[in-house]
Amino acid sequence: MATIFSGVQPSGMITLGNYLGAIKHFVEYQDEHQCYYCIVNQHAITVPQDPVKLRENSRNLAALYLAVGLDPEKVVLFIQSEVPEHAQLAWIMQTLAYVGELERMTQFKDKSQGRGESIPAGLLTYPPLMAADILLYKTDYVPVGEDQKQHIEITRDLAQRFNNRYHEVFVLPEIRTPKVGARIMSLQEPTKKMSKSDPNQNGFISLLDDPKEIVKKVKRAQTDSDNRIAFDKENKPGISNLMSIYSLCSGQSVEEIQAAYEGKGYGQFKSDLAELVVSLIEPIQARYRELVGSDYLDQVLDAGALKARETASRTLREVEAAMGLSRR
Ligand code: AQP
Repeated sequence: MATIFSGVQPSGMITLGNYLGAIKHFVEYQDEHQCYYCIVNQHAITVPQDPVKLRENSRNLAALYLAVGLDPEKVVLFIQSEVPEHAQLAWIMQTLAYVGELERMTQFKDKSQGRGESIPAGLLTYPPLMAADILLYKTDYVPVGEDQKQHIEITRDLAQRFNNRYHEVFVLPEIRTPKVGARIMSLQEPTKKMSKSDPNQNGFISLLDDPKEIVKKVKRAQTDSDNRIAFDKENKPGISNLMSIYSLCSGQSVEEIQAAYEGKGYGQFKSDLAELVVSLIEPIQARYRELVGSDYLDQVLDAGALKARETASRTLREVEAAMGLSRR
């Protein structure tokens, strides 16, 4: 059975982009793969986090993972900081990584912009931690959105470097990005990806937004002035992004959507889209509300951390033995 690993940062409320680009697909893998799904709170602290909010967001994310349909009997669901092997292997990965290649990461460039001398070192060393997350479980496939492509490539490079320098311990993981929805864009700046930490609340739809709020956000979404529903990412990024969301929520192709809205304006399209998004999100919110305060959620996370540690500690022992870090 092939192994899957993926993680999401509890750095805010999960967006429709996170869901359509990654989490939705986690559920599809759970029947036929050994899946490890992680709440990567150590990644989240690469930028300052409010401790109370971080704890709350981690719990909310765990509840959302279950609410979207992950079955803890089938998948290992856990919090990164509860499996110390992640940080231990991350240090080893840092010793293999080159500063030059880390500085070339787009995410590092984006997130360090405007911070002058005060760029947290963790922003630079984010990829070695992500490599550790993935490599600990000898992962075959990593389902992520397109924004993570560069991080998967560096993970493969670090794994290969280790295997060449010591011996074949790591599996080289492959990225799995969805055909549609790999990059959902901001509703306000459709050339920028939708992000949960966007200071402009109108730029993203959170999975926990009130339905009325969702309707408002869709109606306010930026579109051009020609009022024609046509898919053209280059010249009509706003409406094209909304059409991708429509397609993912309805199961219709963008061509079918374009044909169905021939001669109709943005107003009609946006109100149908808002209804679709609300009907997708409402049942998730209902399940989420039952789970978030429950003891069951803690039991799932406790069991998940134990299971994850079994595999993670075995890999770490192999790594340390290969490098001469163990006494025997
Ligand atoms: N806009 C997006 N479209 C499609 N997929 C996306 N993902 C993120 N944004 C989009 C995918 O969601 C998964 C979890 O992402 P993450 O939380 O680990 O980190 P991120 O990519 O940095 O997500 P955000 O929302 O942009 O968080 P912040 O604002 O904290 O940086 C990943 O698989 C990602 O590809």
